[in-house]
Amino acid sequence: MLRLNNLQKSFGSFRAVESVSLNVGEGELVTLLGPSGCGKSTTLRCIAGLEGPTGGEIWLGDTCVYSAEKRLDLPPEKRRIGMVFQSYALWPHMTVAENVAYPLLRQKLSKADREAQAMQALELVGLAHARDTSPGRLSGGQQQRIALARALASRCQILLFDEPLSNLDVRLREQLRGEIREIQRRLGITAIYVTHDQSEALAISDRIVVMDKGLIVQIDGPNELYSRPRTRFAASFLGSVNLLPATVADSGVTGGLARYRTAAGAIVGAPERPDVGGPGTAVQFGIRSELIRLVEDTASLPPGCNIWPVTVRDAVFLGEGIEYTLVTEDGQTLTAKVPPYIRLQPGAAAYAAIAPQDCFIIID
Ligand SMILES: Nc1ncnc2c1ncn2[C@@H]1O[C@H](COP(=O)(O)OP(=O)(O)OP(=O)(O)O)[C@@H](O)[C@H]1O
Ligand SMILES: [Mg+2]
Repeated sequence: MLRLNNLQKSFGSFRAVESVSLNVGEGELVTLLGPSGCGKSTTLRCIAGLEGPTGGEIWLGDTCVYSAEKRLDLPPEKRRIGMVFQSYALWPHMTVAENVAYPLLRQKLSKADREAQAMQALELVGLAHARDTSPGRLSGGQQQRIALARALASRCQILLFDEPLSNLDVRLREQLRGEIREIQRRLGITAIYVTHDQSEALAISDRIVVMDKGLIVQIDGPNELYSRPRTRFAASFLGSVNLLPATVADSGVTGGLARYRTAAGAIVGAPERPDVGGPGTAVQFGIRSELIRLVEDTASLPPGCNIWPVTVRDAVFLGEGIEYTLVTEDGQTLTAKVPPYIRLQPGAAAYAAIAPQDCFIIID
């Protein structure tokens, strides 16, 4: 549906988008996730035609809308794209219905058709009853729903979202992201969604594109990205992660699990990563803080578990859990987030355990 081939955008000598290649399928919701300044909005604005790229190609379905080589650059109104921004950009002097119908003025539609399409879009976002209200009298969440209705009303072939929920409080954000996802699925519309909120990305995406400095670092589904980040950057950007130095122990792989040697000399397992070197290769052994089990004796642990004898250095009560700072035998620090009923005092000896399937290997 959408294809970016080696998309580039420079501002003077600064490369905001270094090179981005991406295929987005029909009806798919793909998130661009990354830190401030990594080029998310610039990529989106290039797709919309609001920014002129400096290289590459953009395809929407079978139509090439931008090509540096062919010197082709279709204006935004010829791209049939709907966009929702962080700011709602609604006209205060128009009613809700007039705001939603406004972009339809450019299309060759009768007044009755414009009104019908606007009302349909307002019904989708649950705000048909507010049609004659001034947008200024509505809440932030309602205003953003109207902006979404406006984007939907023109029956675009692709929807672009640029941090649409950043101005809203946490609970409203969680509710609206669910609504956006529901509408997007129901209409089967293709969407690109920019955010720097990792939980938002995990919650709504079919696939997540992790970006850093104008480049794609990893593209994967939420589950794969969370459980198998491929680089230090991707690992640390999603959730809380411990990386411990280790080496490849031997080349034997059983049941998809390979063996690694910790700095203390113990053998631990993790899913095989075929692109890692042979025995002796240095790697980082990745462990998610929230997947660690903390126990006082190892008898209750399932066989095959990775186990680190540790000493408790610190415990912080967080309400829904306790965050422990632990020190391994070889002096590495481990952070573990465990349920609040596991109470251990600083200085206590314990074992940090994690299933090999839940670990991952980083090589950068
Ligand atoms: N018009 C412009 N002129 C010069 N530099 C620009 C322009 N627009 C963006 N940039 C730069 O390009 C880089 C990428 O900007 P972009 O807005 O795409 O980042 P972003 O990933 O959306 O970040 P954020 O999460 O803060 O919105 C930034 O360093 C920014 O300063
Ligand atoms: Mg941005």
